[in-house]
Amino acid sequence: MYEDLKIILYPDPRLSKISKPVEKFDQNLKDLAARMLFLMRENRGVGLAAAQVGLNIRMFVMNATGKPEDDRIYINPELSEPLGEEEGEEGCLSLPQINAKILRSLSIAMKARDLEGKPFSQLESGYMARIWQHEVDHLNGTLLLDRMGPVAKMANRKAIKELEQRWRDEH
Ligand code: CO
Repeated sequence: MYEDLKIILYPDPRLSKISKPVEKFDQNLKDLAARMLFLMRENRGVGLAAAQVGLNIRMFVMNATGKPEDDRIYINPELSEPLGEEEGEEGCLSLPQINAKILRSLSIAMKARDLEGKPFSQLESGYMARIWQHEVDHLNGTLLLDRMGPVAKMANRKAIKELEQRWRDEH
């Protein structure tokens, strides 16, 4: 039922919405997670939030290495206890051709649920923690563009304008 799902691009308004918590942990949710992992891998991404396939529910998938055993699924994620700060390069499957250095917490704690609805906690730092923060931003309607300073926006202005033009042409 999710074969038609595609990754949506900025400035689709669904990317700016606050996503709602998942309440039903059923087969649909498993099918959705599988489809999201497929789309993420197909597009060589390291993370994908449900909002990016047009579904505003609080869930994301990630894989920091590309190895199938490193697939991770987070439902109703909550980040806490941020420590330190680090700047690092980020891109986004909904913002093709756009890259910027973004300041993120260096390490952070995560509470979330798995596909069965079972709660779990994890702690990560560096690249993994960065992906978490990027994906949780998506669930709150925040994009890289909202985190970029004027210099980064200027550096990416051509790609941003092209995406906006493409959206106007298609709608
Ligand atoms: Co993204």
